[in-house]
Amino acid sequence: MAAAKIAPSMLSSDFANLASEAERMLRLGADWLHMDIMVRSPSPLRPFLSLTDLFGAGHRSEHFVPNLTIGAPVIQSLRKHTKAYLDCHLMVTNPSDYVEPFGKAGASGFTFHIEVARDNWQELIQSIKSKGMRPGVSLRPGTPVEEVFPLVEAENPVELVLVMTVEPGFGGQKFMPEMMDKVRTLRNKYPSLDIEVDGGLGPSTIDVAASAGANCIVAGSSIFGAADPGEVISVLRKSVEG
Ligand code: DX5
Ligand code: ZN
Repeated sequence: MAAAKIAPSMLSSDFANLASEAERMLRLGADWLHMDIMVRSPSPLRPFLSLTDLFGAGHRSEHFVPNLTIGAPVIQSLRKHTKAYLDCHLMVTNPSDYVEPFGKAGASGFTFHIEVARDNWQELIQSIKSKGMRPGVSLRPGTPVEEVFPLVEAENPVELVLVMTVEPGFGGQKFMPEMMDKVRTLRNKYPSLDIEVDGGLGPSTIDVAASAGANCIVAGSSIFGAADPGEVISVLRKSVEG
């Protein structure tokens, strides 16, 4: 069975004190630090008007989620303060543009979304590994789990599957228990795979996720919003470790 990894989502931390927040989480028992990367990518079609602009979905070609967070410079700054595993979740439309900067910045894991990598995931996995990072793939709630099977079974496979349990974009949303079918399916097929869940995890939802087979647990608001964050981390860990 894959080892438990508790990964506080730094999106819920005080970004103005990121290094000390990271240090606090590690001191309280975190295994990984989950870094949510949301950036707006330039569209190759600009400044020309595209069909998607005309039909109102133009933002989708440039913006994977309706929010902005941090990019490689922040990872690079944080890396100077910690040796921790930086579990980077890239909610971007063109992940291949970010492999080199994230590798240089000191990211440990690089998880991209299958929805934007259907045509180039093989090259992407290869380049992530060549920059010394651990490749992972994530899927939105509406994406069928079967889409990631080829990436796990490839000769050069991903080493982690991140099952989104909310629509990506913001912390503090409600956990979607119906996503646990995906986790169960993955765990039955791949007993030692790192299966990560992200969104709405906390003491009241962890048992469902852990019994479905998730071993890497991302939690933002439930940890940072708690009176005793260390206690939340230990509740999450105990549930996963059984
Ligand atoms: C959402 C992010 C999550 C988020 C989780 O797009 O991927 O990592 O920070 O936050 P909580 O645990 O508050 O749902
Ligand atoms: Zn995330």
